[in-house]
Formats: sequence, structure tokens, C-alpha cells
Amino acid sequence: MLDKLYLLAALPLLAAATVVPRNGGASAFAGATTTFAWPPPNVTATIPDANFPDATAIDAFGPTPTGDEPAAIATAPVLAPVNDVFPLSRPDTADHKGSKFDVLHQWGNLSPMFSVDADTFGLPHSSPLVPEGCGLTQVHLLHRHGARYPTSSSAPSALAAKVHNATAGKGFTASGPLAFLNEWTYKLGAEILTPFGRSQLYNLGVGFRVRYGELLKGFTDLPVWRTTSEERMIDSALQFAAGFFGVQWYQGDYHQLVEIEASGYNSTLAPYDQCANANNNISSLGGVQSNKWAAIYTKPTIKRLQKLIKGNLTLTSADIIGMQQACAYETVALGSSSFCSLFTEEEWEQYEYYNDLSFWYGNGPGNPAVAAQGVGWVQELLSRLTQKRITTFETSVNSTIVSSNITFPLNQPIFVDATHDTIISAIVTAMNFTNFDVNGALPTDHIPKNRQWIVTHISPFGANLVGQVLSCPASDTPTHIRFILNDGVLPLTGIKGCKADKNGLCAIDTFIKGMQARVDEIDYQYDCFANYTLPNVPILDGRYPPALRRNVTA
Ligand SMILES: *[C@@H]1O[C@H](CO)[C@@H](O)[C@H](O)[C@H]1NC(C)=O
Ligand SMILES: *[C@@H]1O[C@H](CO)[C@@H](O)[C@H](O)[C@H]1NC(C)=O
Ligand SMILES: *[C@@H]1O[C@H](CO)[C@@H](O)[C@H](O)[C@H]1NC(C)=O
Ligand SMILES: *[C@@H]1O[C@H](CO)[C@@H](O)[C@H](O)[C@H]1NC(C)=O
Ligand SMILES: *[C@@H]1O[C@H](CO)[C@@H](O)[C@H](O)[C@H]1NC(C)=O
Ligand SMILES: *[C@@H]1O[C@H](CO)[C@@H](O)[C@H](O)[C@H]1NC(C)=O
Ligand SMILES: *[C@@H]1O[C@H](CO)[C@@H](O)[C@H](O)[C@H]1NC(C)=O
Ligand SMILES: *[C@@H]1O[C@H](CO)[C@@H](O)[C@H](O)[C@H]1NC(C)=O
Ligand SMILES: *[C@@H]1O[C@H](CO)[C@@H](O)[C@H](O)[C@H]1NC(C)=O
Repeated sequence: MLDKLYLLAALPLLAAATVVPRNGGASAFAGATTTFAWPPPNVTATIPDANFPDATAIDAFGPTPTGDEPAAIATAPVLAPVNDVFPLSRPDTADHKGSKFDVLHQWGNLSPMFSVDADTFGLPHSSPLVPEGCGLTQVHLLHRHGARYPTSSSAPSALAAKVHNATAGKGFTASGPLAFLNEWTYKLGAEILTPFGRSQLYNLGVGFRVRYGELLKGFTDLPVWRTTSEERMIDSALQFAAGFFGVQWYQGDYHQLVEIEASGYNSTLAPYDQCANANNNISSLGGVQSNKWAAIYTKPTIKRLQKLIKGNLTLTSADIIGMQQACAYETVALGSSSFCSLFTEEEWEQYEYYNDLSFWYGNGPGNPAVAAQGVGWVQELLSRLTQKRITTFETSVNSTIVSSNITFPLNQPIFVDATHDTIISAIVTAMNFTNFDVNGALPTDHIPKNRQWIVTHISPFGANLVGQVLSCPASDTPTHIRFILNDGVLPLTGIKGCKADKNGLCAIDTFIKGMQARVDEIDYQYDCFANYTLPNVPILDGRYPPALRRNVTA
């Protein structure tokens, strides 16, 4: 669609096309009260439009020299961290401790991405800056989309339906910190990026240009960068490119490959559609386990808040989760939320752990069908690192896309792929980053000390996993590789052959061999399609334990 628009704009001799804008329409699901939609109904645009000639038709740009490319990842003396959430308000808590505690950093996959501390993944003396004595030869970026509205059947919209029923009934009054509920309406849409979410990806693109721009000098053709077909995925990819290349010209500066995200289609960036066990009871484990914890931690909260309600609204643990999520979603969509300061610091930590359980057992190391979902992208990574095309297709890889030089070039200095939260967590599971599971399976009745699996650090909005290919000492030949998640360097010691290294480096040939061994040990067909029940042993690496397999296939 966008490519077509661009062509029409660039070729004014073509007949004018009338474009009816995609209009999502007003929200039409449980709890929604808003009827607003943009653009206004029945408005169309003609492209090109003689009343509004394109800048290329006017062609009076003035001087346009470009400067040299920045390479801050190698040249900056200190890392500039991602820590800006303008224009979102930083929420207060119910206990007003006002300390360093940041509610924005407690929302798991609903937190806006920020640079984690250097020691987050176990390498306290590391930095994303290129290590002394090394040179950068290539970079692989896998990023999540930016902040979005809730997905279609979310806890906040269910809460809204219930609250609206109650407030419409007789004798409802909420008081104290809950008094806002008397007037509250649900203003959120669904699925698509919020304005703040767009800025996150734009800023990621700007940041990536400043950190890695110099690698553009290695391109002899336009980059091919990938995303999937969902609205928020397209929007995120285009925002990234606008930040990276500039908004006027980006569509002529690179190719945007859009993989189809829908049932029946292979895509390593949205592999759940093709993996049966990602869509049944096996994947429900995340919800089952996190709900056990929710039933425990929300008890005192329900008691406290229920006292503030007169009328027909009996709070459940699902409602508390709905309120905590509403805080996150309203903040990233509307800039602030009255729900946030209902909760104490402890309750926010408990909510974060709820997300950790949901991802660990649903989309991480604790689920037997998760490494399988991540393995396709890992195969593509190996294909890019070895310059060898994938030739057997037994995972979520789309053979049409990866078999072509045009749609899947192997020799780019900068690779950019856009994906989802659950897939970043599946890919770190597939890659055997064992720092996340050193303390074993997550308990559902308390928050364990020293837990490593914290979704806020793994898959927040705008999350990014960066593979740096380096030469140490600096030369044209790559010698090492390392991976950086949300600006925290990951240890590679879970990968066969990779030695402990304070900068997270592994010799590139060793890494390729170890990662190939990992790919070989993941059985996509079995883990995704076999009809198994959950084994009675803890799963720590996202696979059905090979020793327990029976010959039962679906
Ligand atoms: C938009 O068009 C539809 C169908 O022609 C019509 O029913 C509706 O009233 C129009 N709405 C507005 C605001 O003009
Ligand atoms: C709201 O009330 C309607 C009508 O009584 C009922 O059908 C619906 O289930 C209620 N919804 C919730 C979430 O309680
Ligand atoms: C693979 O990708 C191509 C290009 O997007 C698409 O036409 C085709 O339907 C896809 N095939 C599968 C099985 O997903
Ligand atoms: C109380 O709310 C429930 C759920 O929304 C509804 O089914 C029930 O009819 C309500 N009762 C009264 C007395 O309004
Ligand atoms: C899609 O994936 C399936 C299962 O791995 C595979 O058999 C099939 O060849 C793939 N098709 C394409 C077009 O990639
Ligand atoms: C396509 O890739 C193959 C290797 O897979 C290479 O030999 C060939 O030169 C490439 N062609 C183009 C046009 O890049
Ligand atoms: C993956 O990690 C586990 C430890 O959790 C290790 O036993 C296994 O050998 C690793 N696999 C590969 C291929 O490195
Ligand atoms: C799967 O879910 C169904 C329906 O909720 C339930 O009856 C069945 O026992 C579950 N099976 C397993 C293996 O958990
Ligand atoms: C899976 O196996 C169970 C018990 O062995 C059986 O009842 C069920 O129908 C099977 N499900 C599928 C989808 O084959």
C-alpha cells in the first residue's frame, strides 16, 4: 500500500488515484465507550493532488549535503542510555515513598523499553560500546513494536464492561482513591500503536543511526529490513526507518519486506500461527501459572479496595490485574492513569512477577513449545552469519522469502527485523541464554530471591536484541560476536564452546558451531505438533524433555 502511494507520488504523470484511508473505526468490543475515529468519516484523498503538489514536483530543496556517518557505539566515551518517556507522566504509588522506585519499570511487557543496568544479565563490567581494541563489522537488530493499545480481549476492557455495568446500576459509589471510578470511561482502542509507541520506534531508528550509521558504508544495494503485516508492525517498521533515514526519503532508502502474519503462513517473526501447541492448553500454561500467583497476591489488595466501593461491584483477582494493566495502558496511550496510584510498591513488584510467570510458562524457558517457536529466526541468523542459504524447511521459516537474494540478502552490514514480545522471549529461549534459568523454575506462591527472568528487562515495548559482529583486533575479518538485550550485554556461556568473557564475547566460529548444535537439538515438529501433556519435571530450556518422549503425534 505505502509503496504504491510512494510510486504514485513520485510519478505525477500517472492518473490520479483516489485513496480511501484505512479507518479502524470506533472500538467495538466489551467495555469500549468511545465512538471517535480518525480520519473523519467518508474523507478521501487524491494522490497526487494538484492542490498539494509533492515536494519532488516543486523541487526547490536548497542545498542538501549529507555529513559523514556517526558510529557512537564505537566512538562515544560513555553510553547514552534510553531513559526518556516524554510525554508520559511518571506515576506515583499508593505508599508515596517517592524513592528511586519507578512504576514505569514494573509493567513487564507493558513497560516502555529503557536501558537496563550493565549487571542485569550477569556481566557487571560490560557495555554495549564496542570493547577496546575491537572493530565493528556487522549488526543484527531484532526489535519489538512500540507501545500499543491492549490486544482485543484484554483484562482492562473486561474490567471496563464490569465497572460500567455497576456504575449504571443503582446506588454505586466509589470513594477515596477509587472515587475516579464513578466517572471513569474506557477510552482505549485495540492492537495499534499509541502516539508514544510511534515515538519509541522513531527514537530507536534515530538512536540506531547515531550508534551504527557508519556501517551503511558497507552496503552496495538498498537494505532489506523485515516486519510483519499487522498494522502496529508496519507502523513500527516505518517509524524506525523514518528515524533512521529521515521522513522524506526513507521509502527510497531501503526495501521494507512485509511477512504475512496470519494463520496458515510461515513467518519467523510471528511463528505462533503455525505451531499447534502455541494455540492450545500447552500455551495456556502461562495463564494457569500466573493466575495461581494472582489469586495469592491480590487478596489483601481486593480487601483494601473493596472497602471503598458501595454497590454492585465485587472485585476479583482478574479485576486487580485489569486495574494494574489499565494503569500501564492508559499511561502509554493517554499520558497518565488514575489507576496507578491505587497500588503500593510491593503490589507493583507482585504484578511484575505475575508477568514473569506468564512469560516463563507461556512464552519462555518453562514451556515445551517455545524454543521451537524461536528456532526459525535462529536458523536465519546462522544463514546470515555463514552466508549459506537454508535448504531444509521444517520450522516456521518461509522458504519463498529466504531462498531469494532479493528478499533475503545474506551480506548486509545492518539487518533489522521487527517482531513481538513473545517472540523475543522465544528467541532468547531458543538461543539458550542460560543466564535466565540459573535459579530453576519460577515458583507460583512467592517471588524468589535473585530471579533472572524479568520480562521488563526482556520484552518491554520497543525491546531490542542486538547482535554485534566484531573483529578483535580491528580488521575486516569478523572474529567475535556478542548479543545485547535492551542495552544489557548477555553472557553466551549457555552456548556449547563459548567461554566466559567479561564483555560477553564468543569467537564467531565457536558461536556458529554451538548455535548450530542448539538448532539441531530443538525438534520443531515434535514440540509444536505432538499431542503431549505437561511432564512432571521442570522445563528450563523451552523444549519437551527428549528423555520423556513417547511416540504420540497428533
Ligand atoms: C458517510 O457515508 C455514508 C454512506 O454513504 C453515510 O450513510 C453517512 O451519513 C456519511 N457520514 C457522514 C458523517 O457524512
Ligand atoms: C453487564 O450487564 C449485562 C446486562 O445485565 C450482562 O449481560 C453482562 O454480562 C454484564 N457484563 C459484565 C461484565 O458483568
Ligand atoms: C511465504 O511468503 C510469501 C511472500 O510473502 C507468501 O506469498 C507465501 O504465502 C508465504 N508462504 C507461507 C507458507 O507462509
Ligand atoms: C450485579 O452485577 C452482576 C454482574 O454485573 C449482575 O449479573 C447482577 O444482575 C447485578 N445485580 C444487581 C442487583 O444489580
Ligand atoms: C512452511 O512450514 C512448513 C512446516 O515447517 C514447511 O513444511 C513448509 O515447507 C513451509 N512452507 C514455506 C513456503 O515456507
Ligand atoms: C545470489 O546468491 C548467490 C549465493 O547464494 C550468489 O552466488 C549470487 O551471486 C547472488 N546473486 C546476486 C544477484 O546477488
Ligand atoms: C543449552 O543449555 C543447557 C543448559 O541449560 C545445556 O545443557 C545444553 O548443552 C545447551 N545446549 C547447547 C546446544 O549448547
Ligand atoms: C485442555 O483443556 C481442556 C478444556 O479446558 C481440558 O478439558 C483438558 O483437560 C485440558 N488438557 C490438558 C492436557 O491440560
Ligand atoms: C491427544 O491425546 C488424548 C489422549 O491420548 C486424546 O484424548 C486426544 O483426542 C488427543 N488430541 C488430539 C488433538 O489428537
